[in-house]
Amino acid sequence: MRRKPLIAGNWKMYKTKDDALAFIYAVNVEVPDKDVVESVICAPAIFLKDLVKREGENLRIGAQNMHYAEEGAYTGEISAAMLKSYGVDYVIVGHSERRAYFNETDETVNLKLISAVNVDITPIVCVGESLEIREAGTTNQVVKKQIEKAYLNVSAQDALKTVVAYEPIWAIGTGVTATPEQANETIIAIRSVIKKLYNEEVSEQIRILYGGSVNTKNVDSLLSMSDIDGALVGGASLDPNSFLTLVRAAL
Ligand code: G3H
Repeated sequence: MRRKPLIAGNWKMYKTKDDALAFIYAVNVEVPDKDVVESVICAPAIFLKDLVKREGENLRIGAQNMHYAEEGAYTGEISAAMLKSYGVDYVIVGHSERRAYFNETDETVNLKLISAVNVDITPIVCVGESLEIREAGTTNQVVKKQIEKAYLNVSAQDALKTVVAYEPIWAIGTGVTATPEQANETIIAIRSVIKKLYNEEVSEQIRILYGGSVNTKNVDSLLSMSDIDGALVGGASLDPNSFLTLVRAAL
């Protein structure tokens, strides 16, 4: 991999405060040098302040969602500037669970991406197809549209401040991983969309992760592929030892 690998855990709606702190204490000192591999934990919003306070030199904390507006009458929401003011460095945008259950659309993904980059938070922009689409053979078209809409009105310079996560919906939490070849093929297709939107430099430099049932057994084969720059991991990021194994696989 020519690009710096990134392993991001997405805890989703798991863990209590004590579990979250115990994880950070266990992982902090063991995480490899951030100049070699970026290690990120995207935690529920309520834990962010405590986790950022305790993050070590090599671990970074991310949020799982944010609102796109700078501020306003949006009861229950959190802005990018609020996240930034607590030292949060990453945010997941457009996760398929948010698209499916919380009305996230390509349009709100685009606004959130722009809002995050504006305050210097790295958005991890999720795209991916359903099983129906995979079986119909239209994955590349669907993912192309998601990327084009997510990056609407985003400059090349700002696009380079983002990370893409390709997460086939049928592989999330199912134990069915895309084969390394399937994942790589779609990621190569995403890079070619980015090349058309911007240029070769952006498409070669932007990092694209794979997500969907990544675990300690399949991580090596996924990361060995030419265009997979890391992983966005749900279930297997909850245990400290498992998370560390995933991060070390990217070394
Ligand atoms: O954000 C993470 C993805 O939804 C993958 O979750 O590793 O539990 O399949 P999973």
